[in-house]
Amino acid sequence: MADEGLDALEAAAESLAQARYAIALTGAGLSVESGIPPFRGPGGLWTRHGEPPMNGFERFLADPARAWAERLDPRGPMRELWEALQAAQPNSGHRALVRLEELGILQAVITQNVDDLHRRAGALRLLEIHGNATLIRCLACVARFPREAIDFAVLPPHCPKCGGLLKSDTVSFGEPIPSDVLEQCFEETSRADCMIVAGTSATVYPAAQFPFSVAERGGTLIEVNPYPSELTPLCRFVLRGPAGEVLPRLAEQVARRLA
Ligand code: APR
Repeated sequence: MADEGLDALEAAAESLAQARYAIALTGAGLSVESGIPPFRGPGGLWTRHGEPPMNGFERFLADPARAWAERLDPRGPMRELWEALQAAQPNSGHRALVRLEELGILQAVITQNVDDLHRRAGALRLLEIHGNATLIRCLACVARFPREAIDFAVLPPHCPKCGGLLKSDTVSFGEPIPSDVLEQCFEETSRADCMIVAGTSATVYPAAQFPFSVAERGGTLIEVNPYPSELTPLCRFVLRGPAGEVLPRLAEQVARRLA
């Protein structure tokens, strides 16, 4: 049964404080208050410009040099996203999740966001299931490098370690999720008896499967979202509001229970 309103926040805090193993799944909504548009829902990038082609990875492999040229000088919706990523700073929602990690409540954060904001906010147990836009990944040996470590004079760039083809660490549509990250996500999900689901429409798999798995095992879902999502019916607590406002209040309520 979804609880709404103030008592839901206090009850959700109680549930988090009592949880054996709580984790979080976050999506683009967490970075809206950092100036990065979501993809779907009001103001979403895909809402305004239409969903992108679902074969981005196939197109990359067909012509890596061209794909890199487009990435290094994006046009259209991807330029809007790229400029927002450059300017974004972590917000109070990111910091509230770090506080829950420091309180020993949150054991891991699985994020679908590639904006590096969780990491910059101080998250330590972070799994970036769709990669990180500041990193470059080798498709052969899966080594990851900071963008500034790679020379883009010749496109496409190749791996300094093994000579393999380099790609942005951001997972493209149609690209398999790197197995190292995916296995850790399944491991964390299998251990969770409570999951905060913040800022995600829960429409893209495999990430969207994780909260369903927790709920199927009788775990507690806590939704933080100004609007309903695919997950709302499964959530024991529904905290209707922006993450930057709700998560700090939730973390404060949990801290009081631990004091
Ligand atoms: N605080 C919390 N949630 C918010 C806020 C906010 N301030 N503003 C919007 N939201 C919610 C929306 O209601 C929506 O449910 O955030 C969610 C954003 O959904 P999407 O844009 O679909 O983002 P996400 O779920 O992360 O998308 C998953 O799709 O395009 C791919 O790879 C991309 O990682 C992305 C994946």
